[in-house]
Amino acid sequence: MTMSSSSIFHVLISLLLFVLMHEPTHAIKQSYIVYLGSHSFGPNPSLLELESATNSHYDLLGSYLGSAEKAKESIIYSYNRNINGFAAILDEDEAAEIAKNPGVISIFLNKRYELHTTRSWDFLGLERGGEFPKTSLWKKTLGKDIIIGNLDSGVWPESKSFSDEGYGPIPKKWRGICQVTEGNKDNFHCNRKLIGARYFYKGYQSSPIREPNDTYTFDSARDTAGHGTHTLSTAGGNFVAGTSVFGYGNGTASGGSPKARVAAYKVCYGSCYEADILAGFEHAISDGVDVISVSLGGAPQEYSKNSLSIGSFHAVANNIVVVASGGNSGPIASSVSNLEPWVFTVGASTIDRSFTSNVILGNKQVLKGESLSELHLPAKKSYPLISGADAKADNVSAVDAVLCKEGSLDPHKVKGKIVVCLRGESSRVEKGMQASKAGAIGMVLVNDAASGGEVIADPHVLPATHINFTEGVNIFSYINSTKSPVAYITNVKTQLGVRAPSMAAFSSRGPNTIEPTILKPDITAPGVNVIAAYSLAASPSENEADKRRVPYLTMSGTSMSCPHVAGLVGLVKSAHPNWSPAAIKSAIMTTATTTDNNGQHLRDSLKQATPFAYGSGHVRPNHATNPGLVYDLNITDHLNFLCGHGYNSAQLKPFYGKPYTCPKSFNLLDFNYPTITIPDIKIGQSLTATRTVTNVGLPSEYRVLIEAPSELLVSVEPKRLIFKEKGEKKEFKVTLTLKQQSKHKTEYVFGKLTWTNGRHRVGSPIVVKYPQ
Ligand SMILES: *[C@@H]1O[C@H](CO)[C@@H](O)[C@H](O)[C@H]1NC(C)=O
Ligand SMILES: *[C@@H]1O[C@H](CO)[C@@H](O)[C@H](O)[C@H]1NC(C)=O
Ligand SMILES: *[C@@H]1O[C@H](CO)[C@@H](O)[C@H](O)[C@H]1NC(C)=O
Ligand SMILES: *[C@@H]1O[C@H](CO)[C@@H](O)[C@H](O)[C@H]1NC(C)=O
Ligand SMILES: *[C@@H]1O[C@H](CO)[C@@H](O)[C@H](O)[C@H]1NC(C)=O
Ligand SMILES: *[C@@H]1O[C@H](CO)[C@@H](O)[C@H](O)[C@H]1NC(C)=O
Repeated sequence: MTMSSSSIFHVLISLLLFVLMHEPTHAIKQSYIVYLGSHSFGPNPSLLELESATNSHYDLLGSYLGSAEKAKESIIYSYNRNINGFAAILDEDEAAEIAKNPGVISIFLNKRYELHTTRSWDFLGLERGGEFPKTSLWKKTLGKDIIIGNLDSGVWPESKSFSDEGYGPIPKKWRGICQVTEGNKDNFHCNRKLIGARYFYKGYQSSPIREPNDTYTFDSARDTAGHGTHTLSTAGGNFVAGTSVFGYGNGTASGGSPKARVAAYKVCYGSCYEADILAGFEHAISDGVDVISVSLGGAPQEYSKNSLSIGSFHAVANNIVVVASGGNSGPIASSVSNLEPWVFTVGASTIDRSFTSNVILGNKQVLKGESLSELHLPAKKSYPLISGADAKADNVSAVDAVLCKEGSLDPHKVKGKIVVCLRGESSRVEKGMQASKAGAIGMVLVNDAASGGEVIADPHVLPATHINFTEGVNIFSYINSTKSPVAYITNVKTQLGVRAPSMAAFSSRGPNTIEPTILKPDITAPGVNVIAAYSLAASPSENEADKRRVPYLTMSGTSMSCPHVAGLVGLVKSAHPNWSPAAIKSAIMTTATTTDNNGQHLRDSLKQATPFAYGSGHVRPNHATNPGLVYDLNITDHLNFLCGHGYNSAQLKPFYGKPYTCPKSFNLLDFNYPTITIPDIKIGQSLTATRTVTNVGLPSEYRVLIEAPSELLVSVEPKRLIFKEKGEKKEFKVTLTLKQQSKHKTEYVFGKLTWTNGRHRVGSPIVVKYPQ
């Protein structure tokens, strides 16, 4: 999701609650997903198998609705490939009856999800001045013939990022299609780079809450929003030289796996619905993708009642890595979504590039800001400065006016001035549009306390810049203390090498609200001011009144960091085709860093960041193919995890497709995750977590290093692991004892466990919750 759509999302959520609370619910027909588990045929079913699976759905639903014909009318999707289930329009009573059927694992409403570059690969050490340094992973692999599927808002197929110049035949393993409607009115096409596309909109159309006047192209995978083009090109777009945004940030745009083949699964039309997402997963799996990137999410939901959990479980069972965004609801604790241990969940952080545009006050004070405004102030002189609150129209409150909401500024007070607008409620670019409409000559966007230090370079429609909270306090006190305040906004300058990464304030934070023994997010990657391809059908501000069009654009969000990791997964997978999804994820996590380019711990606004913001740390692509050791997991381990989480054997069969008997007991602390989290321990108590590491390097001897605060005693047994060959596995036990309550009155204590043989450092964060 991009930041600006989140407020719309919240409005719609309250609308949904309103509908649910104020209507007699029994009469409402809504779309539901009925989940039945797995099919027993392989990933490439025959037509006969597909047909018989769909008929079994008609039969099952028909037995409730009276006839198979009625079932046929009611079903909008029959998931007949990997995932077994269907989506259908039902009323609440029918849904309640179906839920009682022992063959039904879960039934849930078709809920709404929100859609959650150039420099970033440089920053990650893959390139330097257009060349690949010796240590660059791009010297070894460019992700050739890896297939990346993206569940998003479609794709702009004409973008240079998806040109197939120089590409050979489509890999044989590909079984997908390029779906176009009859007559192909919008001339959608695929090629040897963009090898497939499909669209799924029935879940969206069956929903009672659509966006007002939606103008989405339904029967085409063409991206009219920009989001899907941006994310897909970040994961697997070509090298495209000379890209910039309004001339800023000039450089070579590229995906993480620049030579990968890509496929677009359009499941989002402004927002995304679960029935469509599940259909996207099902087809991506049977089409033969290697990696699925999903930059979207909703409120956290139990695993069996959540299409992203179900779809991704089936994908991982088919050896496909699923990477998902953690959400843009930070910095509030427990805001992270996409909490499945089989999903790779990504937070967002900054890179070392800034689009600097400062405010110079009449008293010569310089306030640091960032912007991607195309327009500059007409002359280098100072202009009158006014707070939105002081420029309020008669019929609005100062609180609304300082936010520069629609119609809140009085044109007589604003004309020819630079207006100061507070961040929040409406989108950042929208505020500038309102200021411009009222006749302002410029805008300074100011953070509130919650958004703190994070500033974002936006493509404003007027000369404008964005300053942080501290600088905001400075500008307001200057205005307060000056009779005729004036200011100037300097032209945008691209600066490289600024201190980074630091966590983006919007990046969603742990702890995990569904299963607290699993740390989420897993990792952080670049997600602020990322330049990538865009749709020529959308404006850079995502606002209809903005008529500008750009082929490349900066966007910010965990939506942008997720495809960075998906691209990196493509590289690791191409270097190690036989590694499991969990091994690939472990390699990327254990080689991550918690240090910035200043040699200091990652920052989160003015504080030190914690694993609840960055998981294992910030990705280091050049280390990820050679991690030394991996924490591996297979499907049995994931089923055991679900047992430990509280599912019984009967509930599990359908996840797996065949019977599975839960072990007598399964301690979640022993789940072989590459991080260790203890959500429940008493003072003086000791708890033990068991882990197994697999040697993926040369024969070697590893020793353990522990970093822990004095409140926490961590002991590891054995302290040395000797590997005589590649592929060898060794078990170890970590015993944690909480000696005393926190000295600092914090809720959690953090540490780190690292295995090292001198060459490799295999790091895992440790998170322990104090008893409350
Ligand atoms: C939707 O379209 C109708 C008719 O074109 C128009 O009157 C109305 O203002 C539009 N609503 C929104 C929210 O754009
Ligand atoms: C971007 O850089 C290329 C060379 O790397 C140059 O040819 C081009 O003119 C530059 N474009 C802009 C808009 O600065
Ligand atoms: C205030 O009044 C102006 C002029 O009548 C109108 O355009 C504007 O929409 C009003 N603002 C609000 C928030 O009602
Ligand atoms: C805001 O920016 C100034 C100047 O770069 C810096 O000194 C200050 O610490 C920043 N404030 C926050 C809250 O990050
Ligand atoms: C500026 O003045 C307004 C109203 O008089 C007050 O609410 C605000 O706190 C002042 N801000 C600063 C930074 O002094
Ligand atoms: C998963 O790995 C465990 C050992 O860790 C093994 O006992 C089990 O058979 C494996 N399951 C599958 C499906 O390969």
